[in-house]
Amino acid sequence: MGKNEWFKEMSFYQIWPRSFADGNGDGIGDLYGVYDKLEYIKALGVDGIWFSPLYPSPNADYGYDISDYKNIHPDFGTLEQFDKVLQKAHQLGLKIIMDLVINHTSDEHFWFQESRKSRDNPYSNYYIWRDQPNNWESLFEGKAWEYEPMRDQYYLHLFSKKQPDLNMDDPKVREEVRSVMQFWLDRGVDGFREDVINFISKRDGLPDGLPFVPLANGIMHYKDGPHIHEYMAEFRKTAQQYHAVQIGEGPMTTVHSALRYLTGKDKSLDMMISFDHMLADCFMTEYLQKPFQLKSYKSALSRWQYRLAGKAWNALYLENHDHPRIISRYGSEIFWKESGKMLAVSYLFLQGTPFIYQGQEIGMTNIRLSSIEQYEDIASRNNYDRLLTYEPAEKRLKRVQASSRDSARTPMQWSSAPYAGFSQVKPWFFVNPNYPYINVETEEQDPDSILHFYRRCLHLRRHSKALLFGTYHEFFPKHPHLYMYERVYQDIGYLVLCSFTEKNLSVRLPEKYAGRKLQLVLCNYSGRDGTSSVLLPYEARVYRARLKTST
Ligand code: GLC
Ligand code: CA
Repeated sequence: MGKNEWFKEMSFYQIWPRSFADGNGDGIGDLYGVYDKLEYIKALGVDGIWFSPLYPSPNADYGYDISDYKNIHPDFGTLEQFDKVLQKAHQLGLKIIMDLVINHTSDEHFWFQESRKSRDNPYSNYYIWRDQPNNWESLFEGKAWEYEPMRDQYYLHLFSKKQPDLNMDDPKVREEVRSVMQFWLDRGVDGFREDVINFISKRDGLPDGLPFVPLANGIMHYKDGPHIHEYMAEFRKTAQQYHAVQIGEGPMTTVHSALRYLTGKDKSLDMMISFDHMLADCFMTEYLQKPFQLKSYKSALSRWQYRLAGKAWNALYLENHDHPRIISRYGSEIFWKESGKMLAVSYLFLQGTPFIYQGQEIGMTNIRLSSIEQYEDIASRNNYDRLLTYEPAEKRLKRVQASSRDSARTPMQWSSAPYAGFSQVKPWFFVNPNYPYINVETEEQDPDSILHFYRRCLHLRRHSKALLFGTYHEFFPKHPHLYMYERVYQDIGYLVLCSFTEKNLSVRLPEKYAGRKLQLVLCNYSGRDGTSSVLLPYEARVYRARLKTST
């Protein structure tokens, strides 16, 4: 493995800092809390942390609207406290990855404050200004353009109007991006997760998109835009000087366009966070729901596994701060423990680097708030007001309850103490009422818990060449309730079985494995020996087998 491929054997834990742990007693998660929890993260068996934005932000989009790239949000602490966290993390052998949000800034960023003042000032070209807007819709709210009286012009915002898009065509802006990267790399961070990175280059002339389509009607003019690979190459150069890892987030990206970022002469990313497998129960946004379809989940995973094989490396995840909780979506809250563990098995043993989102490892589930006003997430509020508005309010609220990013943003459940042990005082946001039984402390004491199971999975992956580097093959791809795949390295095969139904399920083994000595190395039900041909509800099994190569 090359010097720049250190991430392949690793797995990462994602922290959304506002809701992780409150260390200074103001109801908001912070870097003091993170400092105290580093041993917990290490004990999970991960090798690094990705921090969602820690920078100063007016929080129109909770940190993804940055007003100063080279500082720490006072809610979270100081640069000194960040350095302490970084140093202790490194001592524990944990890498640190920062979120790099460069498609847009906050409208309160100094650059924008200057840019909006006139058509000729040192920052006037930092953003995308036009006399006349085109017909693009914002992904968050209404039109993608906002009028600025001081310039008598409109600025582009693909997300909220408090998130003006940077003009990446201006070399000075790209210089700023490199300087931001350098600032954090010099402090010692190990890489970046690059927010909506496939949107940063817009087509010249900004042509109109599709008429009468909400949300992404202009996407063909800003996804994988004309200069994207040039700009990415510049950022790559900076990152490579430090052997830093670069993980792109690519909304609506296809495996085909992702490969361009991940391989060949234009290689500019080590991994791409894709959304394909997150669309097995929805369309475009989680708000537009459909019943969960295992086939859609499997075919998305397999497509990326097959197409990247031998060429590129996957980023594996089921949850992050942008999606509701996976048990509530692809699993079952009734078979909470079984399905929580099974879902872990379904993705942790694929080829790629796994990411685990805070609370996922204890099986946190969706919160259901009783009115739209209680939701903080700008995307939820907007979808409620904008999509399927002919539906009665009650039905729309149900959609928000199932889809809101807020379900991933409730305070981390540390114990059964008041406020889930997240804080001494009332937290900034609602705690999920299930915290008395879904929490770290309770699960630490239960050897059969989801938490302990995650640890076992990560341990198994970390110590197996086949699970890390083996080839991938899916069996019975058309099966509506079973996901079965193997990972093979030399003569060792791992066979993974996941049942996605609350009924018992009869299965047969692929010929390759039938009749071989199979060792059950992991199962989400205790007391099973792996010989039964019937899977219990949401059962997951991992077998290890020696596959003699026929000569
Ligand atoms: C990414 C972030 C999301 C944010 C959006 C705009 O998708 O993950 O949280 O709202 O970009 O920055
Ligand atoms: Ca705090």
